[in-house]
Amino acid sequence: MTDLARRYIAFEGIEGAGKSTVARHVADHLRATGHEVVLVREPGGTEVGESIRQILLGDGEAPSPLAEAALFAASRAHLVHTIVRPALTAGSWVISDRTAYSSLAYQAIGRGLDLDAIRTLNDIAIGGLWPGTVVLLTVATDEGLARQAVDDRIGGEAVAFHRAVAAGFDSLAAAEPERFVVVDASKAIEDVAAAVIDRLGL
Ligand code: TYD
Repeated sequence: MTDLARRYIAFEGIEGAGKSTVARHVADHLRATGHEVVLVREPGGTEVGESIRQILLGDGEAPSPLAEAALFAASRAHLVHTIVRPALTAGSWVISDRTAYSSLAYQAIGRGLDLDAIRTLNDIAIGGLWPGTVVLLTVATDEGLARQAVDDRIGGEAVAFHRAVAAGFDSLAAAEPERFVVVDASKAIEDVAAAVIDRLGL
């Protein structure tokens, strides 16, 4: 793993797994132990990203599956170029609420686009800067959907879609055991955060 990727941690999982809250806890923990931390979310996190997020998740016309994948990749390209890479280069840690792995799970496995093509598209978008560690928070699909606060266009897809995405994340984790840390997120959020900090050795 490169030094940049070592300080780049992704949080992934289906809706309602508690990614944002756990990511915040881990960022707070790193700051409390004297580290610089930049916390980002995808899609969004920049003006360009928030505009793309509005196209992707707003109430307007739904983009086609490939357009959807390309828009997520565009938002990601901009975020990595303007925030993630500079922060890592300056010595910060970067904690990301979702990354390209969400596109592999949602756009490739969920929507049925070609996995290798979506991987290549994203590899180009991020200039090869994949997170060194991916924390996959797992929760039963029904429970996650019931916990979900905001029901956007993708969050509002049928349960079968979310089950496919969950299975997709599991298979991505199984394929890269050295990169993925899989944590049961069905417990209280503080316990989940403590388990993540422990498993990451932070
Ligand atoms: P997010 O803001 O993380 O919402 P949530 O808190 O519900 O997880 O993500 C918004 C939606 O976008 C979510 O349904 C997952 C989806 N998504 C993709 O389909 N592909 C992607 O590459 C990303 C980053 C998100």
